[in-house]
Amino acid sequence: MAAAATLTACTGTRGATSAPPTPTFGAPSPVTPSAGQKVVEKALTAKPATLDLGGRSVATWAYGDTAPGPLVRATAGDLLRVTLDNQLPAETTIHWHGIRLHNAADGVPGQTQDAIRPGAKYAYEFTAPDPGTYFFHPHVGVQLDRGLYAPMVIDDPTEPGAYDAEWILVLDDWIDGTGTTPDEVLKSLVGDAGQSTGPMNGMDGMGGMDHGSMGNMGAAPWGDAGDVTYPLFLINGRPPTDPEVLTAKPGQRVRLRIISAASDTIFTVALGGHRLTVTQTDGWPVQPAEVDALYIGMGERYDAIVTLKDGVFPFVARPFGKTSGGQAMALVRTGSGTPPGADTSPKELSRQVLIGSELKPAASAKLSAREPDAVAQLTLDGSMKPYRWGMNGAKFGENEPLTVKAGQRLRIDARNLTMMTHPLHLHGHTFALPSGLRKDTVLMAPMQSFALDLDADNAGDWMVHCHNIYHAEAGMMIALNYTA
Ligand code: C2O
Ligand code: CU
Repeated sequence: MAAAATLTACTGTRGATSAPPTPTFGAPSPVTPSAGQKVVEKALTAKPATLDLGGRSVATWAYGDTAPGPLVRATAGDLLRVTLDNQLPAETTIHWHGIRLHNAADGVPGQTQDAIRPGAKYAYEFTAPDPGTYFFHPHVGVQLDRGLYAPMVIDDPTEPGAYDAEWILVLDDWIDGTGTTPDEVLKSLVGDAGQSTGPMNGMDGMGGMDHGSMGNMGAAPWGDAGDVTYPLFLINGRPPTDPEVLTAKPGQRVRLRIISAASDTIFTVALGGHRLTVTQTDGWPVQPAEVDALYIGMGERYDAIVTLKDGVFPFVARPFGKTSGGQAMALVRTGSGTPPGADTSPKELSRQVLIGSELKPAASAKLSAREPDAVAQLTLDGSMKPYRWGMNGAKFGENEPLTVKAGQRLRIDARNLTMMTHPLHLHGHTFALPSGLRKDTVLMAPMQSFALDLDADNAGDWMVHCHNIYHAEAGMMIALNYTA
């Protein structure tokens, strides 16, 4: 009897109902500033909030009472000490998107930390080594598609700063609190996907073809651009019917820091009546490129300089390939004039639109010339119908992590085998495209390939994933682990 009882108990704990073992990380180890290192402290609260979007009130989650949340700003080399108070009814984390920080502060639950429980606080301490334009957001579920995002700027102490003003423009696609939530959106997208089985590979991915018609691809570089129908598009948390008004004097040079916090939308961005000189992408300097407009994918950042004319001008972010929900707009005012309406269509949008991966790197942004020590294959797989997304043939958790050894130059041979565009994002590092252009997020058009080189100089377990947050949650992620 005793033996049988023991056996039953044993089966009970090891049976199908028991959760797989999850690593526990505990409290983060305190980081001591190095001699002379400046410490920048900031406290954030993630909480339910009600926002007024042009007269429409939406319930959401945000960092404080606004979306975007408060700017986090420091100088390259400073130690950041950001405490998050989680007042959400859900677990959360913060990921510092694009920052080459130490692994423990990267904000990926189950990989670098335990998720922060409701009511708990967590201190992120890290040095931000590289200047640039960044942002931060949770790395839990589809929380990014709520109001949980905020800009982050790391200043360059040696930069001449040859401009009169600086404007941060955070773009977003908005659905939360408009009768649904991002979690419900994800649920309806994955819908029947659970029933579908079989291999997830390139040809299977052609199932998405009915959405991304090949006939479009010449004129439309991104094919089928998005899955979610958003009712609103925002710049700095404002819809185009109640736009933010940015003021300056005619002739002033302004640095724009354009950040896409969108979850499922590629934007075409332009400032009516002006050309933009793009100077950085994802924080890295480029050979200045003068453009009429530029594409920006989810998670990408572009810095540009513009010399302002006299009048009132629309800064427009138009959702690529989306026919409802209008567009996002802010106003630039340097003089008198009647502001353009919410549906204004600056002609720059249909002129020369920059594809960011075609920028040329500044000499200072180049990796040293070196052959790769190792090559990792990475395929982006899946389809819209059924809604299944993965990497290297399987969804996250079922795919084999990529591996690298410290000190190696790794080449990631990334191939998009689907009929959608995906912004491919790498944590903790930046990669160089074959041109030498440095980025941490790159738009990959349908069937496009890139050889992405990186120096393995930041040991830890990292993520590589699509920055369409719905694709990522559906499984379009893979780990990149350092091995001995
Ligand atoms: Cu902004 Cu793992 O992403
Ligand atoms: Cu994707």
